[in-house]
Amino acid sequence: MSNGSHPAPPGAYSGRAGIEAVSAAVLAMSRHLEVREVLQTIVASARRLLDVRYAALGVPDDHGGFAQFVVDGVSDEQWKAIGPLPRQHGILAVMLQEATTQRLADVRRDPRFGGWPAAHPELADFLGVPIVDGDEVLGAIFLANKNCPAPGGGCAFDEEDEAVLRILAAHAAIALTNARLYERGRELTIAAERARIAHELHDAVNQKLFSLRLTAQAAAALVDRDPARAKEEMRQVARLAAEATDELRDVVVELRPAALEEHGLVATLRTQAQVLGRAHPATIAFTSRGVRALPPAQEEAVLRVFQEALHNALRHADATTVEVLLEGHGKGARLRISDDGRGFDPSAVRRAGRHLGLVSMRDRAAGVGGGLVVESEPGKGTVVEMEVPGG
Ligand SMILES: Nc1ncnc2c1ncn2[C@@H]1O[C@H](COP(=O)(O)OP(=O)(O)OP(=O)(O)O)[C@@H](O)[C@H]1O
Ligand SMILES: [Mg+2]
Repeated sequence: MSNGSHPAPPGAYSGRAGIEAVSAAVLAMSRHLEVREVLQTIVASARRLLDVRYAALGVPDDHGGFAQFVVDGVSDEQWKAIGPLPRQHGILAVMLQEATTQRLADVRRDPRFGGWPAAHPELADFLGVPIVDGDEVLGAIFLANKNCPAPGGGCAFDEEDEAVLRILAAHAAIALTNARLYERGRELTIAAERARIAHELHDAVNQKLFSLRLTAQAAAALVDRDPARAKEEMRQVARLAAEATDELRDVVVELRPAALEEHGLVATLRTQAQVLGRAHPATIAFTSRGVRALPPAQEEAVLRVFQEALHNALRHADATTVEVLLEGHGKGARLRISDDGRGFDPSAVRRAGRHLGLVSMRDRAAGVGGGLVVESEPGKGTVVEMEVPGG
């Protein structure tokens, strides 16, 4: 990078030194993850490479101000004295709105110049380049007061300076885009993880604790009349508490429910139906036919839907009978849980916004490529039907 007509001033970029300085700046950028640090590196590199007194980079926010504003060449005290971050006005606003480069011999004489706070350094020659990603303006980088060996100044910014600053602006665009993607990815991961844990806690642990409560109530009711059975129920309470502990651990480490692993889907569902049936006045009839082994994720989804639908029936329906049918269906399976209870209006429940259980069931089914329908009507009982495709 030669400086064309006039020789490079001492300290400015030239030839190999220029390439090395750009390369150092780019490498420094790729090592930093914090976007602010990256921007700071870019600004410092720009100031050194182009040998200027002041360099700054601004990333606008949506409210006419700047989400990020980093400077180089201004001391901390001076920065404090200047006061609040600039607004998007004057030349800065033009660069951001029009995405145009601004190369000015004296920024103060430009008709669009909007003035600055008292403690602001006096800027004269000015070079600003927008930082763009496609059509979107991510920010702007700008330099002022080129260090000038010629007495009386006059080393205004030239095309070469502009070209170098564009390269840095392009890297700033990459850094900003990467930082945004990284941040967005992290937010999504956290949100997905939160949803997963909320659903798992709801589906697994909640249900276990509900069984536990029912069993404890049954034991309390039996203790005078039939101490032997009360004792047996109390053992069941202890077992359920231990299972709840395991489930909680599984939620945390995202393991499959232990029972599925050990006994398979049909036996697990049958046992759970029996346990609940003993603890509850409603009759729970479990039937299975022609069920083949399913991929683990589908088995788990079926188990969770079974648990939620059954608990809903026992808790909300006041049913006399709950029928559970698990049957082979093509390569997959179909689960049907019907009760003869009071029924409800699914769309009203949806509108009321209190339906984590119903949402969770649908998500479970969809999550493994299956489907789920809830059919209910006040006074008509409820049917929950789920299908999974198999492997
Ligand atoms: N089988 C059913 N019989 C009657 N009403 C039901 C049945 N299943 C669900 N409901 C109604 O739909 C509502 C929402 O069900 P959902 O499972 O989403 O939440 P919930 O069971 O109330 O609470 P949680 O999700 O914490 O278990 C219930 O509160 C209940 O009014
Ligand atoms: Mg529920």
